[in-house]
Amino acid sequence: MDKNQLIIKAKEARSLSYSPYSHFAVGAALLTKDGKVFVGANIENSSYPLCMCAERNALYNAMMNGYKKEDFVALALSADTDEPCSPCGACRQVISELFPREAPIYMSNLKGDEKETTIDELLPFAFSGDDLK
Ligand code: THU
Repeated sequence: MDKNQLIIKAKEARSLSYSPYSHFAVGAALLTKDGKVFVGANIENSSYPLCMCAERNALYNAMMNGYKKEDFVALALSADTDEPCSPCGACRQVISELFPREAPIYMSNLKGDEKETTIDELLPFAFSGDDLK
């Protein structure tokens, strides 16, 4: 599974979005070392703060199937944005705990724009469990 295939999986996952309030569908796809792909889409709720983002759903989906941080090799996300869709702040915090700091994150949109980054770039100086010691 290469970068383009993973981005296609993220785009396909958008069709699973439940977003009747924002009408903004986001898809994510997480690749594991053994070649499995776990997808997520945003799931909204009429009580707005309960909305869950695509990236977190993908990570939680993988973890509920027994995978963990060390198993993850790449994450892709996609939405109908002008620029490649960028993870929100809450997702950055969760990604920083559950996804390797220097593994590629492929941000994309439906026009075919793509940008590769890492959580290290997206969330420098992250708060972490080490700070609680
Ligand atoms: N959303 C995501 O799924 N991922 C992001 O990184 C940005 C925002 C969702 C949350 C909400 O359902 C909708 O997009 C509008 O904010």
